[in-house]
Amino acid sequence: MKALVTGAAGFIGSNICERLLADGHTVIGVDSFTNYYDVSLKRKNIEIVENSKFTLIEGDLNNIDLKSLISDVEVIFHQAGQPGVRSSWGSEFSQYCDQNILATQRLLEAARSSDSLSRFVYASSSSIYGNAASYPTTEADLPRPLSPYGVSKLAGEHLCSLYGENFGVPTVSLRYFTVYGPRQRPDMAFTRFTKAAIQGTPITLYGDGEQIRDFTFVGDIVGANLLAASSSGVAPGSVLNVSGGSRVTVNQVIALLEEIADREILITREDRFPGDVLQTGGSSANAKELLGWQARVSLKEGLAAQYDWAKGILASSIGAR
Ligand code: NAD
Ligand code: UGA
Repeated sequence: MKALVTGAAGFIGSNICERLLADGHTVIGVDSFTNYYDVSLKRKNIEIVENSKFTLIEGDLNNIDLKSLISDVEVIFHQAGQPGVRSSWGSEFSQYCDQNILATQRLLEAARSSDSLSRFVYASSSSIYGNAASYPTTEADLPRPLSPYGVSKLAGEHLCSLYGENFGVPTVSLRYFTVYGPRQRPDMAFTRFTKAAIQGTPITLYGDGEQIRDFTFVGDIVGANLLAASSSGVAPGSVLNVSGGSRVTVNQVIALLEEIADREILITREDRFPGDVLQTGGSSANAKELLGWQARVSLKEGLAAQYDWAKGILASSIGAR
């Protein structure tokens, strides 16, 4: 297939590119290299992906010519966005509107007139649920985001659904639940925790650590994207949870990491962040039925893989900064 991966230099986008190229597909990657985190990490992600079947377009979805870019593309994996729940307050929110809502709408407009497109996969988020009335959450539950980030991801998801329903754009939104693994962003818990465990420095724990997340390994997220690209039984505008099935508290993650690192983890405590939900937990029954997808990597295996990756990053010039 010929695929377009937006946000190709990011954590999830680069993992999708790597897998598509390993499977022999042709990939165009787009990324604007936003400065949300150290851009040299994104450059390193892209270096790993480089391949004769890979073309990188360095540009912003909000102002490049998208129609010609996707003219013969069969599948779009739309991963570009402004991530981060806790930093979406205040004046930063305009970034979330630009990257998560306006860029998505612009890409959908281009996709509307494509003759070659068979699937448009959108990276949605568990943050659209907020603090739910009951768990596990299903796609039929009323979304009630608790953070401005969640609002922007839900707006992007609704845009995908309505372009599907009105114009038949073959969209499917995958609601990812806290994704972890090699190349995870530096603002996220596991990257911070594994680096601290290796260096023997304290982690910062927001709240009492009893918040629950349905952590999902990045390889499983990549697998869900590939299945969504090839499954014909998914109607345009569909929405599916893709959740790891390993719902644990942050305190349990810290205990597991102490086992992997074979040392005590030092903890500095700070108040819970506004927008941080008490728990996430999704039912992936629909993804199993429609895509044949289920999470395969256990938290213990996945966290150990991320710990090994963090060692490599810390040994490099980028990680040392
Ligand atoms: P990331 O920041 O590592 O990757 C996103 C990439 O998109 C970045 O490299 C950035 O430079 C690029 N980008 C942003 N705006 C762009 C634009 N207008 N044009 C071109 N490129 C642009 O983040 P990630 O963790 O890999 O997340 C990828 C997607 O998955 C995001 O949409 C995020 O909201 C969603 N998501 C992530 C998680 C998670 O746990 N990581 C969970 C749920 C949903
Ligand atoms: C993650 C991603 O960052 C979002 O982009 C994504 O959309 C969201 O998952 C999702 O599932 O939709 P989050 O769950 O906050 O958001 O992921 P982490 O940064 O890994 O945080 C997990 C928990 O650890 C949170 O409760 C957070 O407060 C806590 N944490 C994080 C700490 O206690 N200390 C830290 O240094 C970082």
